[in-house]
Amino acid sequence: MSSATNEKLKQCNMCHTVCGKGKVPEEVVQELDDAFECLESSPIMSLLKKHLNKNVFDELKDLITPYGSTLWDCIKSGVVNLDSGVGIYAPDAQAYHVFDILFDNIIEDYHNGFKYTDKQPLPDWGKVSTLQNLDPLGRYVVSTRVRCGRSLEGYPFNPKMKEDDYVAVEKKVTNALRELKGDLKGVYYPLADMSPEVQKKLTTDHLLFKEGDKYLEAADANHYWPVGRGIFLNNENTFMVWVNEEDHVRIISMNEGGNLPKVYSRLVEAVRQIEKRLAFARSVRLGYLTFCPTNLGTTIRASVHIKLPNLGKDTEELELVADEFHLQVRGTGGEHTEVKDGIYDVSNKRRIGLTEYEAVKEMHDGVLELIKREQEFGVVKK
Ligand code: ARG
Repeated sequence: MSSATNEKLKQCNMCHTVCGKGKVPEEVVQELDDAFECLESSPIMSLLKKHLNKNVFDELKDLITPYGSTLWDCIKSGVVNLDSGVGIYAPDAQAYHVFDILFDNIIEDYHNGFKYTDKQPLPDWGKVSTLQNLDPLGRYVVSTRVRCGRSLEGYPFNPKMKEDDYVAVEKKVTNALRELKGDLKGVYYPLADMSPEVQKKLTTDHLLFKEGDKYLEAADANHYWPVGRGIFLNNENTFMVWVNEEDHVRIISMNEGGNLPKVYSRLVEAVRQIEKRLAFARSVRLGYLTFCPTNLGTTIRASVHIKLPNLGKDTEELELVADEFHLQVRGTGGEHTEVKDGIYDVSNKRRIGLTEYEAVKEMHDGVLELIKREQEFGVVKK
């Protein structure tokens, strides 16, 4: 072991033991060497490829977390799927610590400069009354959605979960959801009992997660599917909780139209009620811990489905505004999908290094600007 590696064996503030120690199996070392070569020789530009240089690789390839996760578990998805934008997942919370020299650079790059010396602010949902309806006349915004993700304390993330863990997490979460009050009251539908027709309908209505995501699949996140997976849905289909998909819990609020204050306040209330009953994994520096580093911190993704017929013709201009306001533009069906009928999925991109309120406000301000530019488009260009 190099002295740099010895240096890495330090007291972990996430698992409260010494982290990084252990023996990486011979076949995994081989797999890792091949993977590094494969990344090196391919022309791809994922964040993984950008930040996994030889020094970082050599320093991390012998390390292992208390759950037995290796560098290979982290990078597998990005190696198998060379079209990944990011290409890395944390198989357990401690991986963020053991493999920090890689994760930290990727986090900084993705989240607009959140450095390893930076710290996630304490949760702050802000004043909902300072947000406005994004499109009161209903001309552009088809729907508005805000979600956050949570991991239960004491369990690893997907790749290291056993069948029993899936069942236990599902039970804890659904017990807590049964206590929800007001318009959050609803019913839990386990995926295993769902007919294919209902599953399809819920997915096309953007209520349920897609099945068989190739990035999650390659990250070993789909083990024992559909055990422990399911969706909790309120009567109006405006509030849902996904159980054991990418994260242990995804809490989602949505409505047709642009009434962001209504959608956001429902989410805040849901999180408040759920947090009274469940303990979620949080690190002082990284905030709420999630399977994918793109979701760390607040884990907030506030989005709209929006029609932009003019800006849509000038995608360069659209990307320019998006960059300026830290927005991410996706296809209609969300991540890795095409734009259908000129409807874009626009959301805040960064989720760490700012408060929950500020994450939502980034989307709020950016979408108002997009609408302004959409309206001015012909006029200003002439
Ligand atoms: N791993 C995929 C990629 O690198 C997805 C990353 C972000 N999305 C997510 N659902 N976590 O492109």
